[in-house]
Amino acid sequence: MIDIIRQRRSIRKFTEQVVEEDKLKLLQEAALRSPASKSANAWEFVVVQDRSLIQQLATSKPFGSKLLETAPLAIVITADETKTEAWIEDCSVASVFLQLTAQALGLGSCWVQIRGRNHSDEKTAEEYVREVLEIPSNLSVLSIIAVGYPAQERRPVETADLQWEKIHSNKFGVKE
Ligand SMILES: Cc1cc2nc3c(=O)[nH]c(=O)nc-3n(C[C@H](O)[C@H](O)[C@H](O)COP(=O)(O)O)c2cc1C
Repeated sequence: MIDIIRQRRSIRKFTEQVVEEDKLKLLQEAALRSPASKSANAWEFVVVQDRSLIQQLATSKPFGSKLLETAPLAIVITADETKTEAWIEDCSVASVFLQLTAQALGLGSCWVQIRGRNHSDEKTAEEYVREVLEIPSNLSVLSIIAVGYPAQERRPVETADLQWEKIHSNKFGVKE
């Protein structure tokens, strides 16, 4: 697992190779196995492979969603807020489970933030994504995980370059 965590970097350019069915199934399984507060499992995942829909998702935001343009797969993470107050946490955990599983399968991924972002002056990114994919209005949209075979190489951050100063020992500010 630590090797998968070390190797994972956000990938924003993908090759044209489609994600095979068996890998897609494993990604779906990983999402459904993600832990959720009180086992509410309030999430719903929209698996998008249709090219024209992915192109529309790529314009969800003025910045930060264009990377979807080359992605052969986009997994949209939504949840019913009325089912749990921890929906943001639950959807975030599922998003990261998807990213780490993608890495383990030799795929690249990138998180596209939707919650709290705007599509335009008139429309939130959530409203836009809901419209494009006909997602019911009771579901909130947290993120889109772009997945595909990497068309760019990104080196892992060196272990020595991590922000080790952010680790505190027993009491805040105390270093080991
Ligand atoms: C909550 C969250 C929201 C993010 N939103 C976006 C986004 O909208 N667009 C994007 O290109 N990257 C997005 N990212 C990816 C981050 O920019 C990236 O994880 C960060 O720069 C660290 O780089 P790394 O993933 O390669 O380690 C997001 C990541 C997280 C965790």
